[in-house]
Amino acid sequence: MTIRAKIVGTGSCVPEKVLTNKDLEKIIDTSDEWITTRTGIKERHIVEQGENNSDLAVGAARAALKMATISPDDLGLIIVGTLSPDMPMPSVACLVQQALGAKKAGAMDVSATCSGFLYGLSIADKFVRSEPDMKVLVIGSEVLSRRTNWRDRTTCVLFADGAGAAVVTGGEGERGIVSTCLHADGTLWELLTIRGLGTAHPVDASILEKGWQYIEMQGRDVFKHAVKALESVALEAVDASGWSMEEIDLLIAHQANIRILEHLRERLSLPRDKVFINIHKYGNTSAASIPIALDEANRQGRLMAGDKVLLVSFGGGFTWAGVTMSW
Ligand code: COA
Repeated sequence: MTIRAKIVGTGSCVPEKVLTNKDLEKIIDTSDEWITTRTGIKERHIVEQGENNSDLAVGAARAALKMATISPDDLGLIIVGTLSPDMPMPSVACLVQQALGAKKAGAMDVSATCSGFLYGLSIADKFVRSEPDMKVLVIGSEVLSRRTNWRDRTTCVLFADGAGAAVVTGGEGERGIVSTCLHADGTLWELLTIRGLGTAHPVDASILEKGWQYIEMQGRDVFKHAVKALESVALEAVDASGWSMEEIDLLIAHQANIRILEHLRERLSLPRDKVFINIHKYGNTSAASIPIALDEANRQGRLMAGDKVLLVSFGGGFTWAGVTMSW
């Protein structure tokens, strides 16, 4: 008998405040035309003062629990993928656990940048397959607007805030997660960083002067690695499932850049209607991008029982990951 980890509820939460490309034209030397053609982004959501990563994570979690019709008391584990926690200690997961009143749940953050949600989902898959009654809440949540240098036009037009969540539990049958593939290459870490405010470079005037508290990226190099890694992990995950790419009903890839998504679609020979895209509305929300997209696809009725779904991510570190599931 096959036991699989299934997603039984999804949710998402983004800040109310919307920052459009036109708004950005007023604060930096850029244009709606440049941002749209180079990235596909039209607008993004940005937190207001006092609004934090854990608030977005809790909003997404509540929506996912509601859809799954389970209570916080039923949760055995909370995993939050994030690179922008409220603070170094405690974890965002503990803040979520407290806010939900999930008294029986363990809680931890996973630091795998834009792959944080898929790393978290893979961990949930292993737990649930060995303990099928367990209910795991997996969240991807980011407040990148506070790690963005608003004077650096090469990055500030890209990154944004939001959270997405999924409730995972075990069940008999073919539906659920089929394959998980995780990868990393630390030799390339310098291409995408937030160097400062960790213990290597703690707060001091020289760090702030260098802008090391912000995201720094070698965009062109990251682009090339992203396309290659996403393609190879997509093929690997589909192959590990015993499926062919033609059988995939929906690809949800990390929403970093429309051109990356288009390259990937072409390399995998997938038709446009099989590739989910919402980057125009949210920008790059790192670990939150896949669960936000998954929740939107779910609520739009684009996921039917038994559909073959492929999720792929790539981010700083580098990390990359692929997950297949029969919905
Ligand atoms: N508005 C207007 N012009 C801009 C700009 C902006 N926001 N940002 C950069 N430019 C300019 C540059 O200064 C450069 O001008 P120059 O030719 O006079 O020097 C020109 O546009 C081209 O810059 P370049 O960085 O080569 O552009 P690009 O086509 O590589 O696009 C990215 C830049 C960041 C959109 C692209 O490299 C990218 O998406 N990379 C991957 C990002 C990613 O996915 N990161 C996250 C992984 S999780």
